[in-house]
Amino acid sequence: MAMDLAYLSNLLVEGTAAFEKTASHEALEAARLKYLGPKGLAKAALGAIKDAPKEQRGEFGKLANALNKTLEELLASAKARLGDAKPVVTDFFDITKPGTKYELGHAHIIHQTIDEIAGIFSRLGFSLAEGPEVEDERHNFDALNIAAGHPARELDNNFYLQLTQPDSEPKPVPLLLRSQTSTMQVRAMEAAVAQAGGNKNPAVRVIAPGRVYRPDTVDATHHFMFHQIEGLAVEKGLTFADLKSVLHLFVKEYFGADTKTRFRPHYFPFTEVSAEIDINCEMFKHLRKPWLEILGCGMVHPNVLRAVGYDPEQVTGFAFGMGVERIAMLRHGISDIRWFTSNDMRFLRQF
Ligand code: DAH
Repeated sequence: MAMDLAYLSNLLVEGTAAFEKTASHEALEAARLKYLGPKGLAKAALGAIKDAPKEQRGEFGKLANALNKTLEELLASAKARLGDAKPVVTDFFDITKPGTKYELGHAHIIHQTIDEIAGIFSRLGFSLAEGPEVEDERHNFDALNIAAGHPARELDNNFYLQLTQPDSEPKPVPLLLRSQTSTMQVRAMEAAVAQAGGNKNPAVRVIAPGRVYRPDTVDATHHFMFHQIEGLAVEKGLTFADLKSVLHLFVKEYFGADTKTRFRPHYFPFTEVSAEIDINCEMFKHLRKPWLEILGCGMVHPNVLRAVGYDPEQVTGFAFGMGVERIAMLRHGISDIRWFTSNDMRFLRQF
């Protein structure tokens, strides 16, 4: 096509429309290349000035330059209109690409053990109770019939907390990290009395799992923090036979129907009579020991009942406590208590 003045005016009209209409960065880029690119139509018009017939060359040159200048300006304003946003690329979803793998976590073996044990007791009518890990001496010792001067109260057997200056007035109430979940016996009975609204000796049946703390030197079977599960039942007429039947049921549920149980007399300040339970079961055959101790238990001591406002002439109770790590170690053949807190995925993934 001959590049004459009419052609240039046409190009101006066409190019103006192209830049003004653009609705996307892609369309704008296409228009830029078409008119203003190195091989664009407007650029070609500049190159054609020298070939224009002499008498038109002046006019042609002016028009060609005006054309380029106008289109450059239109390009700039179209860019501003479309904003800085990156060109919108329609998302392409490649279904052949391997997807992102989300790893599913699971409960820690300690919590699995607690859930399973608490589940058995909940089917026996025990409800779940939880309480504080920072305790006072009343709940950890006094109300549990642990006398002043008892070695269990000594400074180096407990993590006492010093929350105020030693010489401050009034004297701060000594607090400690609880050394046993038996604190929950006291708390459960206190709560039951508070809720009973004047009714004396309310019945209680709770199972209370939780962390306990003792300043033991850490080795394969000792740790300064571990878990216990406490159980307590208080009711008119409960006897040692009830304790035995509940714990027999538990042992057979958890350790297997063929498990043999042995009650061995023991001493705990908060129970009278007191016993430890040893079991002999298929599950622990690999340990080659005929009897393994799994928990402590007994009838709630009258002094404990009295300390929380119960009348031991009217009601009786039984209690038991077991170490969660110990039971999990026996059951799964775990040789070192430190594995539980190692956060080693190779260990945790096995359960
Ligand atoms: N609190 C005891 C301990 O930490 C365990 C225990 C023994 C709890 C006998 C009880 C019980 O409830 O009756 O060693």
